[in-house]
Amino acid sequence: MQKHNFDLYVERQNTSSVKWDERKRIFGTEDVLPMWVADMDFQAPPEVVKAIKEKAEHGIFGYTSIPTSVSQSIITWYQKRHKWKINAEWFTYISGVVPAISASIQVFSNPGDKIALFSPVYYPFYGMVTDNDRTLVTIPLFENNGQFEMDFKLLESQLDSNVRMLLLCNPHNPGGNVWKKSVLEKLAEICVKHQIIVVADEIHGDLIFKEHAYTPFASISQEIADLTITCIAPTKTFNLAGLQASVMITSSQSMKAELELFMKRQGHFTLNLFGITAMESAYIHGESWLDEVLDYLENNMDTAIDFIQKNIPKVFAHKPEGTYLLWIDCRKLGLSDSELKRLLLQKGKLALEPGNKFGPGGEGFVRMNVACSKGVLEEGLKRLKAAFE
Ligand SMILES: Cc1ncc(COP(=O)(O)O)c(C=O)c1O
Repeated sequence: MQKHNFDLYVERQNTSSVKWDERKRIFGTEDVLPMWVADMDFQAPPEVVKAIKEKAEHGIFGYTSIPTSVSQSIITWYQKRHKWKINAEWFTYISGVVPAISASIQVFSNPGDKIALFSPVYYPFYGMVTDNDRTLVTIPLFENNGQFEMDFKLLESQLDSNVRMLLLCNPHNPGGNVWKKSVLEKLAEICVKHQIIVVADEIHGDLIFKEHAYTPFASISQEIADLTITCIAPTKTFNLAGLQASVMITSSQSMKAELELFMKRQGHFTLNLFGITAMESAYIHGESWLDEVLDYLENNMDTAIDFIQKNIPKVFAHKPEGTYLLWIDCRKLGLSDSELKRLLLQKGKLALEPGNKFGPGGEGFVRMNVACSKGVLEEGLKRLKAAFE
């Protein structure tokens, strides 16, 4: 029996929520339903809320350390949920996955080096490369029946000796590919052959729909594990993004030492008390909440896809294998990206992520976040239809 009520609408306005409270700054109006940035409109697992309340009520917020029980909760989670055996000696804690990508770029490449990624992709990937004065090598994913696939020939043709690193998004945002083990094996083989360091952003790794299985990239082989920094966090999985807690994982002890030195130089030694508390509590107590939220999200995905098929025939959305982000193909409408955005905001009163923000291959798409109550989803879908009518 379902224990958690995801149908409940919880007000998020005036709660310092980027999604709800920054509409005016980002979209120019507050009169839009926000279905853009990737967090959920659901309350976190009750056990996590309780653990945070207990810490708050203690009332002493002095310097923190990260107890070994936190690392143990992560190790147990990955072993149980994903059959990935990891070890606390491989961990470097950091406030987020985007900071982890930036740290890895700064530690393992030099200004001017080339860094490859598959496009379209989560847009901060581009900024982390170029803001650190590295050169982007953009490998477009190709579409097969509405789904993204990697072009390994193209990738290899781009891997000259100046390419130091590959940024991988596994599962992929946008599009929601949960990369198959066979695909990751091929990718790992190429990276080992060319000795490319891989930063694997696996923040969506727990958000996998039935019939699909997430494979941590570093679990493919010891050779690739020793070239990979896996960036994980409980923040997408359990809706804790505002608490900022994540981990860089590498089995290479020399890479781990370099990451630790980088963090020391930055003056970063620990995480926020509430982030630490939430992380441990979520990994220990959050599994049944996660299983329920995944059912709810998959149902929302099916509802959205069915609605689009029946009501907006020129628009197409392929069901993602994971994540709560629906990648909607609007190319048959024949509109420019700015026109798509204008119609969505002005006619639809709906704030989505424009696909072109995700780089080459994203033009003509929009990304809709369906991690909301059914009531909000239905309203969002009506607005999507109204925008294109
Ligand atoms: C692929 C991906 N990586 C990283 C992040 C953000 O990570 P963090 O909040 O830990 O910096 C997101 C958030 O949407 C994401 O989709």
